[in-house]
Amino acid sequence: MDKPIYLDNQATTPIDPEVLKAMLPFFKEKFGNASSIHHVYGFESKKAVEDSRKILARSIRARAREITFTSGATEAINLAIKGVSGTYNSKQHIITQATEHSAVLDTCKSIEKKGWNVSILPVDSMGVVDPQSVEDAITNETVLISIMHANNEIGAIQPIKKIGNICKKNNILFFVDACQSFGKLDLDVRDMKIDLLAATAHKLYGPKGIGFLYSSQKDPKVNLEMQIEGGGHERGMRSGTLPAPLIVGFAKAIEVSLENQKSEYKLLGKLRDDLWDGIKSRHTDVILNGSIENGLSHNLNICFPKLDAETMIMKMKGIACSTGSACSSANLEPSHVIKAIGRDNELAHSALRFSIGRFNTHEEIKFAISEINNVVDAIKSAKLKRKN
Ligand SMILES: Cc1ncc(COP(=O)(O)O)c(C=O)c1O
Repeated sequence: MDKPIYLDNQATTPIDPEVLKAMLPFFKEKFGNASSIHHVYGFESKKAVEDSRKILARSIRARAREITFTSGATEAINLAIKGVSGTYNSKQHIITQATEHSAVLDTCKSIEKKGWNVSILPVDSMGVVDPQSVEDAITNETVLISIMHANNEIGAIQPIKKIGNICKKNNILFFVDACQSFGKLDLDVRDMKIDLLAATAHKLYGPKGIGFLYSSQKDPKVNLEMQIEGGGHERGMRSGTLPAPLIVGFAKAIEVSLENQKSEYKLLGKLRDDLWDGIKSRHTDVILNGSIENGLSHNLNICFPKLDAETMIMKMKGIACSTGSACSSANLEPSHVIKAIGRDNELAHSALRFSIGRFNTHEEIKFAISEINNVVDAIKSAKLKRKN
């Protein structure tokens, strides 16, 4: 049987062939340990890692030494939040917002258990946090503000530059989870006044298992308590043998993404608009979560009132999509993001996320429209029959 059409690119993306090609030699003949300083195997691995670090740093206007490689964004987020909190002897205050990924919210919770105060700010009906509410939440104890760039469920883009300026003005560290925007939206850590930033390769057609934390080393110099002890790799910030093939793949992934960033963003937006138009022209009761104008162009999150998302997904056998974030699809609680934008439990249980990617085609979107519309039609008419 043919596999379903993949419309879950915010959960993860397939590897770009160019990325795979760049990685392969580092699984084969260039297998050296980047920490081996006595032979050519080590040198070539080390050079590839450092060249990749430069490429990744440049892509966010950072310096190479400000990049610490991690196993992914979850680890980078833990390093940022626990790392900052670990440098204080007394309990301080962190500000974040309600639609963050669980990697941020759960890490903040663990700091809260240690006695820190955490403020979780609400968002508006489009999923956007008001910069003024961030400024109003600042206390004398606030040391870190953690706001994501773009949301993984509804694509909402946060006013990062405005919040960065507020942080700078108040001398508070600013951490941005940029997993969903890296390679898609412009990121300039200097201009946006970002002190810490997490990114991961597998959302931009790179390999799973590699991410980085950017931490500013000048104006301000961010101090972090390391979370993984060992051989002192990564300037002592994160021990463990560096996975050179994954790092090379990560750098290639951002290079490929940046080459076509604007045109790809536009093209995916066109496919998303077609998908949305095709669904809403047949099902006028459909509700959009987030906004088309201020959302990632490849995201479409919608609710069909009174229809259960799990049932719809099971019946849409020709497409692979999700009910929300991949991390929350294992639990049956309605999405905290959909609830944060004001939907009740019943509506939140009907939310579907479609996320389009580089390898989707117009034909696939056409097929998806008819698959979605037919399944929704069938469920609606079965419900109507049961009622009568
Ligand atoms: C916004 C956001 N933050 C963090 C993560 C975690 O990233 P990783 O899978 O690299 O740990 C994800 C991925 O699901 C995400 O979408």
